[in-house]
Amino acid sequence: MKKILVTGGLGFIGSHTVVELQNEGFEVVIIDNMLNAEEKVIYGIEAITGKKPVFENLDLREKEAVKSFFKKYNDIAGVIHFAASKAVGESVENPLLYYENNINALVYMLQELQAKTAANFIFSSSCTVYGQAEKMPITENASVQPAISPYGNTKQIGEEIIQDVAKVSNINAILLRYFNPIGAHPSAEIGELPIGVPQNLVPFITQTGIGLRKELSVFGSDYPTPDGTCIRDYIHVVDLAKAHVVALKRLIEKKNETAVEVFNVGTGKGSSVLEVIRSFEKVSGQKLPYKLVGRREGDIVEAYADTQKANTILGWKAESTLDEAVESAWKWEKKIRS
Ligand code: UD1
Repeated sequence: MKKILVTGGLGFIGSHTVVELQNEGFEVVIIDNMLNAEEKVIYGIEAITGKKPVFENLDLREKEAVKSFFKKYNDIAGVIHFAASKAVGESVENPLLYYENNINALVYMLQELQAKTAANFIFSSSCTVYGQAEKMPITENASVQPAISPYGNTKQIGEEIIQDVAKVSNINAILLRYFNPIGAHPSAEIGELPIGVPQNLVPFITQTGIGLRKELSVFGSDYPTPDGTCIRDYIHVVDLAKAHVVALKRLIEKKNETAVEVFNVGTGKGSSVLEVIRSFEKVSGQKLPYKLVGRREGDIVEAYADTQKANTILGWKAESTLDEAVESAWKWEKKIRS
């Protein structure tokens, strides 16, 4: 059984990926410092898969700790690196926290991996690297735009660091550029646990639906889109998790064509904010209180993926609909508030 290290494995996307890895027979070791996650997530993973992953409470910003980890576990067949901070606004207020969490940790990890004879590395990147792309849907060839936030910058720099290191080492990497991950495991054993007021759309909607928030503010209704609200490519987190397993297998089986490959991970379908609200109303059977307000600074008009490369080369395709994803997020919200 191959042993896979999942950093940030207690987080939203990390925990769902651990489940899919275990379902596929991989043995998982999680590293997490619980900066934005809770240890009890392990029991959710265990409830779904029947297997408790190994957990190391470790801070990747501590170089010596990373070194010791790889001494203890010298048979890691692949690394999926999620551990990072991801709140855009917070990154503007505290850029060094973002550079330390997202860059230092990556560098320490790669330092250990480059000493190995072979290393397989999956990196959590984001469609944020495309900025407002000129053409929709967005292909992997669309140019990377200057980042508008330190968070976005860490994803771009992270990609560049991996490209540079792969040129001079035995590291093979796949950079997955996520569109907008939403939803929860259909079992409602794991899901998203936002700290404080959610900044992202779907957690804000479900918290409003459950009565924790008075109403949703729809940021901007005068965009050049059919209904005036922004368009995004919302992907079910379980579909996204499965993309990681497929990408990892590609590296382990040495099927990659170049040392570093890049894939968009989205559904290929754009949905407006109002469409997401309608979806929530449909799956929950209740009205969502919302008001139209001004635009949020830094928002782009639209972003949805061209998924052809992932479909044909990775052999992966998102399967869930928007309604299914929103329904799973709602089921999870109801479960954690009950
Ligand atoms: C955001 C980040 C992106 C990051 C991603 C991580 C920004 C500008 N972008 O993506 O870099 O990779 O989260 O998950 O923050 N909306 C509302 N009301 C709300 C919340 C959101 O109308 O209360 C709208 C937004 O204006 C946007 C859409 O919903 O049009 C999606 O927003 P969000 O979930 O925050 O994702 P992104 O902004 O696409």
